[in-house]
Amino acid sequence: MTERVTEATDDRHGYLPAMGHHRLLPLYDGFTRLLGVGSFHRTLVDQAGLRPGQRVLEIGCGTGNLCLLVKRRHPDVDVVGLDPDPKALSRAAAKAQRQGLPLQLDRGFAEALDYPNQHFDSVLSALMFHHLEPEQKLAALREVRRVLRPGGSLHLVDFGGSTNPSDGFMTRRAHRIERLRDNFGERIPQLMAEARLDNPTEVDHRVTLLGRVTFYRAGSDGGTGPEP
Ligand SMILES: C[S@@+](CC[C@H](N)C(=O)[O-])C[C@H]1O[C@@H](n2cnc3c(N)ncnc32)[C@H](O)[C@@H]1O
Repeated sequence: MTERVTEATDDRHGYLPAMGHHRLLPLYDGFTRLLGVGSFHRTLVDQAGLRPGQRVLEIGCGTGNLCLLVKRRHPDVDVVGLDPDPKALSRAAAKAQRQGLPLQLDRGFAEALDYPNQHFDSVLSALMFHHLEPEQKLAALREVRRVLRPGGSLHLVDFGGSTNPSDGFMTRRAHRIERLRDNFGERIPQLMAEARLDNPTEVDHRVTLLGRVTFYRAGSDGGTGPEP
């Protein structure tokens, strides 16, 4: 068993935890099961088209459900989950141990990844992006581009896409909360392009009780040079 929970060396900034508040974390898995988040995870894993021997990073892995799904479906893929929340990572580690699935779990921030350039074949992100402030989003996408190998890809699902007030609770809240508003319209593909990820694409979307959930894909040419 190789679950590993490492400590981030850079803990300067705060973060928004999974349910918006630390004490609600124990409710997270039940809540997301009710909302059918497992089906978003399955779609994202299909979308990523993983192959044996590849390395995958999930940024904002929370309690580890997506990482565990990847490992169950693709035992020959190396899976790393990263999250700033040590309590969420402990839950992920306990589940990995119970299920006998080896995961690497690292404490850290998407906008300051402690991995070498061009290290991963795919980066996954599920319902994490709306937890970031606008400036963190661009920084995180630049980091994703840096750690992706040439030909690698980012697969992201989150509240986002075109806004329609009938699209649900999160979409309506987006008018008041900047980090949510910043997820809607064309904003996510624009940020991906600004981070010089290739060909940002909206792959699919679903309208859920909480709002419109959109699936994106973008590639990387593996470039690690400074921004122009
Ligand atoms: C709604 S949860 C999603 C968890 C998991 N991806 C899933 O699909 O169940 C959002 C997660 O993003 C994490 N998060 C918040 N700020 C972050 C940051 N700057 N970098 C990486 N993860 C972050 C939170 O700690 C939380 O675990």
